[in-house]
Amino acid sequence: MLYSPIKFRNVELKNRWVMSPMCMYSCENGLANDFHFVHYGSRAQGGTGLLIVEATGVEPKGRITNHCMGIWNDEQAEKLQKIVEFVHQNSESRIGIQLAHAGRKGSTWENKQISLEEGWETLAPSPIPYHPSERIPHELTVEEIREQVQNFKNAARRAVKAGFDVIEIHAAHGYLVHQFLSPLSNVRTDEYGGSFENRIKFLIEIVDAVNEELNENVALFVRISGTEYAENGWDINESVELAKILKNHQVDLVDVSSGGNIHGAKISVFDGYQVPFSSAVKNQANVKTGAVGLIKSNNQAEEILQNGEADLIFVAREILRNPYLAVQGSFEMNEECFFPHQYLRAKISS
Ligand SMILES: Cc1cc2nc3c(=O)[nH]c(=O)nc-3n(C[C@H](O)[C@H](O)[C@H](O)COP(=O)(O)O)c2cc1C
Repeated sequence: MLYSPIKFRNVELKNRWVMSPMCMYSCENGLANDFHFVHYGSRAQGGTGLLIVEATGVEPKGRITNHCMGIWNDEQAEKLQKIVEFVHQNSESRIGIQLAHAGRKGSTWENKQISLEEGWETLAPSPIPYHPSERIPHELTVEEIREQVQNFKNAARRAVKAGFDVIEIHAAHGYLVHQFLSPLSNVRTDEYGGSFENRIKFLIEIVDAVNEELNENVALFVRISGTEYAENGWDINESVELAKILKNHQVDLVDVSSGGNIHGAKISVFDGYQVPFSSAVKNQANVKTGAVGLIKSNNQAEEILQNGEADLIFVAREILRNPYLAVQGSFEMNEECFFPHQYLRAKISS
């Protein structure tokens, strides 16, 4: 199963391993460089079914730091296109990009807010900072919300032009879209706040706008936090309800992570700790899901898939340790997996 293909629209993944999006904080002006070329290229050579490029800002204030990736201009998209072309020409991996807006969690360095001079005024659904020591974020007006939807749409258009196979919208980890979903960070009294339907409106508008830029050759994923581990906060029941609606809006997969919106939330972390959230969303909303979080071995990944708890396995830290995770796993499990033809002599150990 781990090495069986799966299709989203016309995009076929050769196996179920996904390189989870991971910020590398290594850009100047949001531009990908040689580091990113090698970083993503080597995971493609490692046989990974799908790579998802790190959280990429849809506008300058959408970044977490001054060194995050961006896709708000053509130059940025052209640099990313080089990586996409390498992956397509030299591997069987498909490649996606995570489109993101940091909202109130922007303007930081090493997890600390930086000054207005070095950074920027952050944005949010409501004037509530992530941490009380931080500046109060600017409360978006309805017109500004619409501009943000347009920023996601423009970013999607550039990503499609650059050749990406998958677009993932970042609606997790306490960033702008999640800030709208949660009744703890969104206390608006207009059409974007209050009821569940109002809180999810920003995300649904982004999904619809992004979908206008996609075609059958580009799939759409959404990453959510299955819960934010806080009383009266966003929880798994709302996640399931959201997933049912996302499916009706042509979202192909819900990538289920957790947390990130509430400072100091208590999270008990153990191997596969977020898998139950993926399982609940998959089985109760009847959508395809990705599981992520401390998944480190073939057996663990295979079991999650066999148990019907997820359709894809996202790996972050383990694939940083081992870019060849997928191909190595295939040797151990005696399965077929892409291996660069230049390396074929290494398929036999003696
Ligand atoms: C260095 C690093 C950067 C990350 N950046 C992102 C990101 O850009 N977008 C995102 O959704 N998650 C991000 N994450 C979270 C991972 O995608 C993943 O959900 C999390 O690390 C749990 O998976 P793991 O146990 O396999 O590491 C990051 C994680 C790490 C370690």
